[in-house]
Amino acid sequence: MVLIVPTLLAGCDGRQSVLSPGGADARVLGDLFWVMLVGAVILWLLVNGLFFYVTRINRAALSRRFANGLIVVGGVVFPTVVLGALLTYGLSIMPDQRAPGEGLTLRVTGEQWWWRVEYWPDGADAPIVAANEIRLPAGQRSEVVLNAGRVIHSFWIPALGGKMDMFPGRETRMSLKPEAPGTWRGQCAEFCGASHALMAFEVVAMPPDDFTAWLDAQAASAAPPATEAGARGARIFAREGCGACHAVRGTDARGAVGPDLTHVGGRLSLGAGTLGTTLEDFQTWIAHTGEIKPEVEMPSYDYLADADLADLAAYLKGLE
Ligand code: CUA
Repeated sequence: MVLIVPTLLAGCDGRQSVLSPGGADARVLGDLFWVMLVGAVILWLLVNGLFFYVTRINRAALSRRFANGLIVVGGVVFPTVVLGALLTYGLSIMPDQRAPGEGLTLRVTGEQWWWRVEYWPDGADAPIVAANEIRLPAGQRSEVVLNAGRVIHSFWIPALGGKMDMFPGRETRMSLKPEAPGTWRGQCAEFCGASHALMAFEVVAMPPDDFTAWLDAQAASAAPPATEAGARGARIFAREGCGACHAVRGTDARGAVGPDLTHVGGRLSLGAGTLGTTLEDFQTWIAHTGEIKPEVEMPSYDYLADADLADLAAYLKGLE
């Protein structure tokens, strides 16, 4: 066990780890982990120490009374007290992830292998739609309403809190409170098909004022392309029928099958945490979707000429 722990911890870079908490709820879970680990190590040492002791001593010298006492105290009383104390402690610090939010509500839907994200600020009558990235105001508790398109997924941001299953046709809820600005990573935690492992997302907690400004920008329609290449890319986007599946608000593209692309150029990842968002990443993604993400619904546009791909990438990257 002593050898396994460092090996396990070596896999945690902090962005996606319960042991580097950035949220109030994850901090509780992290504390619980360490207390339970220390408790388990102490128990393990004592039990093995005792075992060693009784195998090494001269049994003839062991009085029956002492042996019985050892069984009662070491085998019943001690584990009951220690495990009871750990249980009581664990239950007493349970994070309150069902606590109501303080203003912002997000609706997140698990799709085949991406995340539909809708922001509902207090009093809004229509959502601000985004995808594959979640932004939250730091220091505030936001409520997340979870749902799924076709199969069960599970929403998990280890550094911010516990995970919650997402079901088609049924809503589940949780709330999250990032303590300070930061960037973390979330991941689908329920096997949901071929590209389950490629269903991740970036999570950004921002100072509340920055968050409000960001959300206002997200609510706006897409600005017209600012470059020649972007304008050509917009025409290719229309020609290839991308708008049948994707929406770019302010244009004729109104599809709702795939992620909303209105501000895709300002996101931190493509393909739900699979690639970055450089011009090259856009080209790679568009031409090789099926290879990068097995069984994804978007076809690979590998027949496009390099120049067309570059223009399309320029258009999408420009949608900030
Ligand atoms: Cu979605 Cu696994």
